[in-house]
Amino acid sequence: MHSKFISFDTFLSSHQEYWRLDPFHLCQASTLPWYRAKPNLNAWLNSLDSSSIQSLKSCPSKLVEEMERFFPMLESIKHLCVLPQYQLGGLDLPKGADVGIPGRKLTQILAMGEAALDYHEGSEWLEWCAGKGFLGRILSSQSQQKVTSFEWQNSLCINGQAEADKQSLNMQFVQGDAFSDTSDHVFNSCQHAVALHACGDLHTELLRKVSQHALPAVSISPCCYHLIQSEHYLPLSERAKQSKLELSKSDLRIPLQETVTGGERVKRHRQLEMTFRLGLCQLLKTQVGIKQYITVPSIKKSQLAEGFKAFCLWAAAEKEIKLPTPIDFGHYQQQGEALYWEMEKLSLVQQVFRRPLELWLALDRGMYLQEQGYQVDISQFCDKQVTPRNILIHGHKRN
Ligand SMILES: C[S@@+](CC[C@H](N)C(=O)[O-])C[C@H]1O[C@@H](n2cnc3c(N)ncnc32)[C@H](O)[C@@H]1O
Repeated sequence: MHSKFISFDTFLSSHQEYWRLDPFHLCQASTLPWYRAKPNLNAWLNSLDSSSIQSLKSCPSKLVEEMERFFPMLESIKHLCVLPQYQLGGLDLPKGADVGIPGRKLTQILAMGEAALDYHEGSEWLEWCAGKGFLGRILSSQSQQKVTSFEWQNSLCINGQAEADKQSLNMQFVQGDAFSDTSDHVFNSCQHAVALHACGDLHTELLRKVSQHALPAVSISPCCYHLIQSEHYLPLSERAKQSKLELSKSDLRIPLQETVTGGERVKRHRQLEMTFRLGLCQLLKTQVGIKQYITVPSIKKSQLAEGFKAFCLWAAAEKEIKLPTPIDFGHYQQQGEALYWEMEKLSLVQQVFRRPLELWLALDRGMYLQEQGYQVDISQFCDKQVTPRNILIHGHKRN
């Protein structure tokens, strides 16, 4: 893990101007940060049309192959990004165990559940930030062991407890705040702790408490790295603390910018909304003299169907901006469209750094557990199509 971490750290640290960027704003700037350093990268980006941008975006291996010309280190980094894929045998679920669990969520839960069962150490489970306890249900029904499901939202606890009781599962929901000292009461040294997609500080807090209470095992799948209380990322492991990388909350969002789980409709909406927002920026710059970015509130997808002009009038009313008349809205919409493709080109560059950054974060968690006396495995518990947040960090306490 240390040597992998050093490789990712070196790669990310030495290429910061290529990934620490916001494509939405950068596409509106007159020059790119690598304008002088990599003219061949600029030339290549300029040669791409919309269909090649889309095809590279949807085929990461092809994109990496192209980008290796500009970033030779990618050749070795791409191999380090391949995690062992957890091999699923398939669980035999009792009738009704999957009640109310939506399709893709069920696939994630079954995969995570099977991996946790395989790695299991201890005689109880602790389901951290349990939601309605879907994962806990699977673990309880398969292992017949007690599950404590800890969750903040009372309504989810009530709902989850009712379903567990209906299925006669040995599950106990506990309502509480993960960050309060009272959450320590749910831990005991017989538990294997699990957390599926507990956001940012919620899963790092779990790792701390697992070590503090000497749990025999822990399995987490991290997500939403940016949901942290501190201003910047605070590394957990001693090794990551030595890194020169200082990650802001917006840097921590970068690994989450994958839209693989969105269908064609979601993609179309995103394209339209970004085009409208970029077009509006140009209109405000030229017609009203507003040079700085104005945050326009989020918009209902149905409103987009009313067109660019309606969007601009709505946004101007929301921000109390008086627009001059007449305005050639078609002209600014066209500018928005052109900028949209510029933005997509820049995100192709950023895209090849996303997984390395996510693995840097996962390795920090893994190394922290190692430092606390755990044997650690990092793998992939399901396909990216099921969820791009598919990293499984598993630790079991060394004797
Ligand atoms: C992304 S959901 C994951 C839920 C569940 N593990 C799953 O995969 O279906 C995160 C859960 O954490 C809970 N949560 C948020 N803040 C919390 C806190 N401070 N203490 C305990 N739970 C919290 C939320 O209510 C939510 O149910």
